[in-house]
Amino acid sequence: MRLKDRIALIIGAARGIGAGIAARFVEEGAQIVIADREPAGEATASRLGGRFLQIDIAQKADAERAVATALEQCGQLDILVQNAGIYPWTLIENIEPEEWDSVLAVNLKGTYLAARAALAPMKAQRSGRMIFTSSITGPRVTSPGHGHYSASKAGINGFIKAAALEFAPYGITVNGVEPGNILTEGVKEARSAAFIQSMQDMIPLGRLGTPRDVANAVLFLASDDAAYITGTTIVVDGGQTLPEGADFRLNPD
Ligand SMILES: NC(=O)c1ccc[n+]([C@@H]2O[C@H](COP(=O)([O-])OP(=O)(O)OC[C@H]3O[C@@H](n4cnc5c(N)ncnc54)[C@H](O)[C@@H]3O)[C@@H](O)[C@H]2O)c1
Repeated sequence: MRLKDRIALIIGAARGIGAGIAARFVEEGAQIVIADREPAGEATASRLGGRFLQIDIAQKADAERAVATALEQCGQLDILVQNAGIYPWTLIENIEPEEWDSVLAVNLKGTYLAARAALAPMKAQRSGRMIFTSSITGPRVTSPGHGHYSASKAGINGFIKAAALEFAPYGITVNGVEPGNILTEGVKEARSAAFIQSMQDMIPLGRLGTPRDVANAVLFLASDDAAYITGTTIVVDGGQTLPEGADFRLNPD
């Protein structure tokens, strides 16, 4: 029960990695509030015994409403997870400014808006945990079609450092996770089977990740065990970013 009686707001948790984080937090004793733009979040929250709020994290008023609702309904806010993200596949030559803005608005601006909204209550409490879902795509590697997405996720890593420094005097830690390729509903919708297979072929541990793989790292960062860790990210990629080239497999036999 590593999160016993902690109150966690998890944004972008109707499904996929966020739902995995929410489930893992509940297993460890947390009370959860799920905020997502999809009404399907209601069913996820009720399955997990949590609360649901429909928001668009790209909107300042919605970020503030999510934090206010968690405070009203649960009395405090101990953990903020901003996991909402979108990943359209478009070559840079075809990215229109509107699409660029929409990706940056959810992934990067949404991260700053969530952090800013949660700061006031955490500052007053003199404690808090903020955890943001970045990616290996952008901070470490990339592939064609990910120009806006890569920029947004590399931006999150920079923001994590800046926020960690500014919020440290209030006892608030700020960290992130960098998932590799995690098999979620979103990935199945937005990426071809050939793309998914090509990623699997590059993963030394031989499989795509699961939401639970990422959730375990987020849980660690949210727990007391990570009290002295701030301003950093944990890569959760099955070793995908390790190989120098495609010919990396050893035959263990
Ligand atoms: N799946 C992967 O391989 C992978 C790898 C690296 C990073 N990530 C990141 O992990 C996060 C989750 O990815 P996933 O694969 O689970 O995606 P997903 O599409 O399955 O789930 C994303 C959730 O975020 C919600 N959401 C999207 N835009 C929102 C908004 N504006 N406001 C509120 N909620 C919003 C969606 O409704 C959905 O419930 C994203 O930030 C993604 O960039 C995923």
